[in-house]
Amino acid sequence: MRYGSDVTQLIYVSSASHPMEKRELNALLEVTRRNNERDGITGTLVYSEGNFLEVLEGDTEAVHETFRRILKDTRHGGILVLSERKIKEREFAGWSMGWDSGGAAKGTVAWKLLVSFRRQMREHALRL
Ligand SMILES: Cc1cc2nc3c(=O)[nH]c(=O)nc-3n(C[C@H](O)[C@H](O)[C@H](O)COP(=O)(O)O)c2cc1C
Repeated sequence: MRYGSDVTQLIYVSSASHPMEKRELNALLEVTRRNNERDGITGTLVYSEGNFLEVLEGDTEAVHETFRRILKDTRHGGILVLSERKIKEREFAGWSMGWDSGGAAKGTVAWKLLVSFRRQMREHALRL
C-alpha cells in the first residue's frame, strides 16, 4: 500500500436506495476492499438502518477519484460530505476498509458520528 505525504481524509454520509441485504453489503465491501487496497486508501464504512457513513483516507487524487465513482453509485443517494481535510497521519492506517453493519463498530468515532448526524437530521426535520 502506498503512503504518500499528501493525505486527505473525507467523511460522508448517505442513504441507501433500498434496505441492504447482508449478501449485497458483502459484495459491496469486497469490491471496496479490493479497490482501496490497490489505490492506497484506508478508512471505514459503517451501515446502519439505511444510512452509510464512510471515512476515506489517502492521496488527495486517489480519494477524489474514488469519491467520484461513489457519487455515481445508484445503490445510495443524498450524499453529504461532513468533512474534508488534509491530515498528517492516517487515523485508520492499516485498514484497507474497516466495516460494520451494526454490531462491533458501536462506540467508535465513525459510529458516534453517524448516530449523532442522524439525530440532528431528525431534529431538523421536526422543526420544518
Ligand atoms: C456506500 C458505498 C461506499 C463505497 N465505497 C467505496 C470505496 O471506498 N472504494 C471503492 O472503490 N468503491 C466504493 N464503492 C463502490 C463504488 O461506487 C463503485 O461501484 C466501485 O468503485 C466500482 O469498482 P469496479 O469498477 O472495480 O467495479 C462504494 C459504494 C457505496 C454504495
